[in-house]
Amino acid sequence: MNNPNASGSRIVGWGSDLPEKVLTNQDLADGGLDTSDEWIFERTGIRQRHVGGKTGEMSTNAGRKALEVAGVTGADIDLVIVATSTPDQLMPGTSATVHSELGIRGGACDMQAVCSGFSYALIAANGLIQTGLDRVLVIGADSLSPYVEWDNRSSAILFGDGAGAVVLERHSEETLLSFDLGADGDSRHIGFTDHGGKITMDGKEVFRTAVRAVTKSAQQAIDGAGLTAADIDWFVPHQANVRIIEAIASRVGIPMERAIVTIQDTANNSAATIPVALDTAVRDDRVQPGDTLLLGGFGFGMTWASAVMKWDPRD
Ligand code: ACO
Repeated sequence: MNNPNASGSRIVGWGSDLPEKVLTNQDLADGGLDTSDEWIFERTGIRQRHVGGKTGEMSTNAGRKALEVAGVTGADIDLVIVATSTPDQLMPGTSATVHSELGIRGGACDMQAVCSGFSYALIAANGLIQTGLDRVLVIGADSLSPYVEWDNRSSAILFGDGAGAVVLERHSEETLLSFDLGADGDSRHIGFTDHGGKITMDGKEVFRTAVRAVTKSAQQAIDGAGLTAADIDWFVPHQANVRIIEAIASRVGIPMERAIVTIQDTANNSAATIPVALDTAVRDDRVQPGDTLLLGGFGFGMTWASAVMKWDPRD
């Protein structure tokens, strides 16, 4: 398994899955929520969300697509990591479902860093490849809809379900140029869900903390790569509120034309937002080989993670 000539990793497969059922802003207003499509779109950038997905099923679907793009099967995967805060069961991890459904040969574990989970898992997978693994399937998936308080207009408008996946493979060059990880456990009260409970948050405080933390983290990751904001071809941020994305992009110095925004179609599906946005932008040909990407996530905890990557998929 060890290849002494290889020192890094690169993404060679990608995929995403969103449940078929769509709830538009208008559906929420028609259903009795005291809100409007205009208010939600202006304040968040969201038009609709996908609901009714099971984390294991969406993870499997997204993972299968990523394996297909990579041209590998589960037998070629050393480890699957499912980043999620909404596992189908408390035990075992949702990665067990994916392991079984996709015939993964190697290990399986879940990671819980809420909406930053995919970025944390990607960075961890890169480290594991540096220490010996050949190929890791990294999935970000969440089914938030069962935890949404649907009659609370301050939070019901924000969330949805989905999954995104990548295959990270050993490579002779390092494409993960730099990363920054952080957390502030003292802020865990500003967003949480108790066992059996619903999503509870202080939206304004989450907004402020996210902008402050991700701006600093993104700048550190860019500096760590020896680059400037002008070198970033695409900012692939966590999709929680388009105004959060705009605030971070402007502070870091990245024009919004270079930010991948998918929130209008998906709302915030937590650990899935970054891999879903990446998959979308690769499939619509915005992201091209040789591009430099900045991934930036944050989530309840609060947790945050940024990564600067060269996009260098196999032919
Ligand atoms: N429709 C209409 N009016 C509304 C709605 C709504 N859906 N929601 C709130 N309002 C009203 C409020 O009642 C308030 O009215 P008032 O002035 O009469 O009191 C007014 O609109 C302004 O409300 P604010 O809360 O100040 O609105 P704000 O611009 O802060 O937007 C929001 C609220 C969208 C929640 C924003 O703060 C936000 O996006 N925060 C970040 C939340 C987030 O990202 N959470 C997920 C984190 S990631 C994770 O780990 C899961």
